[in-house]
Amino acid sequence: MEQTHVVADRRRFLGYLAASPLAGALFPGALGSPEARAAEPPVPTITALEQAINVFDLQAVAERTMRPAHYGYLQTGVLDDWTVTANREGFQKYGFRARRLVDVGTIDLSVELFGQTWASPVALAPVSSQRAFHQDAERPSARAARRRGALQMISTLTNVSFETLVDDRQAPLWFQLYPTNDAKTARQLVERADAAGAGAIVLTVDLLAGGMRRETQAILARQDTGNCQQCHDRTAGFAGYLKRKAMFDGVDLTRLTALGDPKLTWDYVRLLRSWTRKPVLVKGIMSAQDAAQALAHGADGIVVSNHGGRAEESLVGAIDVLPEVVAAVGKRVPVLIDGGFRRGSDVFKAMGLGATAVCIGRPYIWGLSAYGQSGVETAMRLIDEELISTMRQAGVGRAGRISSADVIKL
Ligand code: FNR
Repeated sequence: MEQTHVVADRRRFLGYLAASPLAGALFPGALGSPEARAAEPPVPTITALEQAINVFDLQAVAERTMRPAHYGYLQTGVLDDWTVTANREGFQKYGFRARRLVDVGTIDLSVELFGQTWASPVALAPVSSQRAFHQDAERPSARAARRRGALQMISTLTNVSFETLVDDRQAPLWFQLYPTNDAKTARQLVERADAAGAGAIVLTVDLLAGGMRRETQAILARQDTGNCQQCHDRTAGFAGYLKRKAMFDGVDLTRLTALGDPKLTWDYVRLLRSWTRKPVLVKGIMSAQDAAQALAHGADGIVVSNHGGRAEESLVGAIDVLPEVVAAVGKRVPVLIDGGFRRGSDVFKAMGLGATAVCIGRPYIWGLSAYGQSGVETAMRLIDEELISTMRQAGVGRAGRISSADVIKL
């Protein structure tokens, strides 16, 4: 509870500061990042989706309208959430080189991955249990991805089936795999996704040994006075949890105790490689050494990620390790990245540092929760528009041409 009060006190103090005409002069930078500003009560929230000028406007609506427990589940990092902050702050360590009088009349955002072209380098990251955010669960997100022509990764832990989402998206979705503690189940999941037309399998490796404690989630859940038991039958244990996840229909739940297994090693990537002919990516890489291991064990791609600061409290932002991962991988396989991407300029910097594409997690869920499919589309559109204006200022007409020469380490 004490922490909640600290948060509330900090907000009141920042609210007081924000209201003061001297705020900027006395405390330069005291009003914090746009994300922090959007979270503060003094900022009036938008009253219609069309008014949104950035994804933080969507966050503000989501925060005010969601149940505290669900908002906590969305926003939480681990321990002090310092790695969530590190993901955002990493972008302030880089700028881009402004260039003038280059013909940027036409901007091409498209990128190619494994022979397939996507309309934007901004993809939707796998986010589990979207029924916590919208009654139609993952379906509005898949329909938004279809409207925007974007790549989408689908969590193992969806509330509606992968097949339904393939139908909604009308293009290959990438299936994200939590291997569970049982290889037979994992193989079953991969084969099912493969049969439904998955474009790739993305193995998430950052929670295999269990994540660290999600304190913000726990603290906000304490403030939720609603009836949680209605949807979350706590007496049924892990099997009860999996019963609400569509991909576990027909799976023998008695064998399952966890989403991963702390005993797994890199050999697992090779095993997974033997179950499918689709590209296999490893998500959750935060070091050059692990990127090299992934490739040595047959991975076709890397997703640099710390699970949006929800796995380890390392205080290292995803963008901070992108250069070393790109150096280790070279041009052999595509490197994707997620964690803290909120602005088109963030996307530009990552691409300049060698990423082929970028995923967003929380921003599209803010849109989903606040406005359904249109909210997801708006989150994607706003970031794309910012990317376009960044590319124009940097004199780069094609997303695939953004290079290290366009980024400046500050
Ligand atoms: C996630 N993420 C995630 N990752 C994954 O591989 N499988 C999953 O099921 C989930 N579920 C999930 C739920 C929620 C509520 C969040 C916020 C995140 C992590 C996600 O794919 C991605 O790595 C981060 O969300 C990226 O960081 P940002 O954009 O949220 O800062």
